[in-house]
Amino acid sequence: MGLKPKKALETLAVSTIIVLPNDTNTIGNMMGGRLLHHLDVVGAIAAHRLCNRVVVTAAVNNVSFNQAIKLADIVTLEAKVSRSFTTSMEVCIDVYVENHANGAKTKCNEAIYTFVAVDQIGSPIAVPEVIPETPLETERYKAALRRRQLSLILAGKLKPDDATELKSLFSKP
Ligand SMILES: CC(C)(COP(=O)(O)OP(=O)(O)OC[C@H]1O[C@@H](n2cnc3c(N)ncnc32)[C@H](O)[C@@H]1OP(=O)(O)O)[C@@H](O)C(=O)NCCC(=O)NCCS
Repeated sequence: MGLKPKKALETLAVSTIIVLPNDTNTIGNMMGGRLLHHLDVVGAIAAHRLCNRVVVTAAVNNVSFNQAIKLADIVTLEAKVSRSFTTSMEVCIDVYVENHANGAKTKCNEAIYTFVAVDQIGSPIAVPEVIPETPLETERYKAALRRRQLSLILAGKLKPDDATELKSLFSKP
């Protein structure tokens, strides 16, 4: 029997943290590695919500530290599965910082992780499909195929010649 597809929104995982002194470097910025840890955890929860299985991190595809996060900032991480393939799931995570005075949230960072669902002996197992609904979910769903091909090329698991989706970006119409 096929696995029941889920809406991207059903995979939403949200985590809110406050930056404490032990999270920062000597100029009061949150350490990148500390943020990576929180991204990994919230991303894994989103992936888990799609497949309800144990998931492992297969790749950190992209993390952009666009804006420094400072000591005492309140940080919210919002993760959703953007697309699933056979056993792997791409998760996009948006990071927001909250203004202390008015509570307004500003997006400061973005990350993309790949998780794989595994069974009790660590072998990959099939996951349900994701249904994108919003324009952003649809855009991320479409682009996920290119990102997957790039990630697999970098990992030495796909030949550049077989990356048809990526190649189409560079071929003339
Ligand atoms: C991730 C892992 C389960 C993949 O197992 P594997 O035997 O290599 O299996 P496969 O090559 O069939 O890959 C399984 C899926 O992962 C995807 N994948 C593997 N490496 C990938 C990468 N670098 N980028 C994107 N996707 C990747 C494959 O495309 C495949 O996806 P699909 O089934 O949706 O097509 C295995 O490498 C592993 O357990 N790694 C360690 C995970 C871990 O401990 N993470 C924490 C790090 S401390």
